[in-house]
Amino acid sequence: MNIYHTEIGTNIDRAAEILMGGDIIGVPTETVYGLAANAYNIKAIKNIFEVKLRPFYNPLILHAGSIEQLLKHATDVSQLAVKLLDRFSPGPLTIIVPKADALPDLITSGLTDVAIRIPSHEMTLKLLRLLPYPLVAPSANRFMRLSPTSAEHVMAQLSGSIPYILDGGPCSLGIESTVVRVKEDVIEVHRVGAITIDQLKEVHPDVVLAGIGASASPGRLKQHYSTLTQMILTNDLQKTLKLLKGTKIGVLTFGRQYQPIEAALTMNLSINEDMVEAAQNLYKHLYELDRANLDFIIATPVPDIGLGQTINDRLRRGAAIAG
Ligand code: TXA
Ligand code: MG
Repeated sequence: MNIYHTEIGTNIDRAAEILMGGDIIGVPTETVYGLAANAYNIKAIKNIFEVKLRPFYNPLILHAGSIEQLLKHATDVSQLAVKLLDRFSPGPLTIIVPKADALPDLITSGLTDVAIRIPSHEMTLKLLRLLPYPLVAPSANRFMRLSPTSAEHVMAQLSGSIPYILDGGPCSLGIESTVVRVKEDVIEVHRVGAITIDQLKEVHPDVVLAGIGASASPGRLKQHYSTLTQMILTNDLQKTLKLLKGTKIGVLTFGRQYQPIEAALTMNLSINEDMVEAAQNLYKHLYELDRANLDFIIATPVPDIGLGQTINDRLRRGAAIAG
């Protein structure tokens, strides 16, 4: 692997030039930052897996600047899938569809289906429309670590491993896209994300959560999105604080707590109980807590409705004990 002096900048032409040269770069999206490569350059795609320390069985999302461009790399896309793309693109929806033969198998980990999406970020859309090929881009974090929602987050994890990070400011949504597959007129949700189940139901009423096991997305591990500091998810904050008395504790909470929180550092996802703000803050606050040299991070779940379901999914995975 090459060693780079990683630069952060806002030069889209420069970003395009580096990608054309076969290197991989950090790019902003409305959800989280991606680690992007030319989808038809095998060496660059391999480099993504190596830099991320990501296992090859975990497939990558294909990003393009328009539905027309996306569909060139897929085949037999159902009417309902197109309807969903129409409704939510550009935006935080990823759809799994049959792949075109020419698309490298490395992207899909050998599967016959590819996940596609159009990110809604002005700079990255410009970049995608400038390039003669689509980009594959997983989140720009190392395997099992927190997704980055700013150029600085990407720098903190990947400095030295990539030449350039295109800085598009903090991500407006701050949480990953919703991954769906259309199966016999049913929308299966493979990863809950920035688009809520209710929003999907507005387009088509039959929406189901894909279970774990065969129907789940490959690479959807129980533990994921983790801080380096051990995280505990609890419904009873005061009791957990008492149990861990004497250790250095960080708390991630939501809304107004009527009891004082005795912790070294407390971060609130949204004092006003605004889920959109909470999603924006989730990874940002977790990065900050993780940097504070704590013994434990204690998080409390948010109400399990709408975007709250996605936030709780990430908190549960972050807190799960590997096993
Ligand atoms: O918001 C997002 O989706 C971000 C930004 C950068 O676009 N990307 C992202 O990528 O979160 P990644 O690689 O961290 O997560 C992609 C998810 C994984 O859970 C993967 O298993 C699933 O999508 N996935 C990708 N291709 C798939 C396929 N062909 N079949 C089933 N699941 C797939
Ligand atoms: Mg990821």
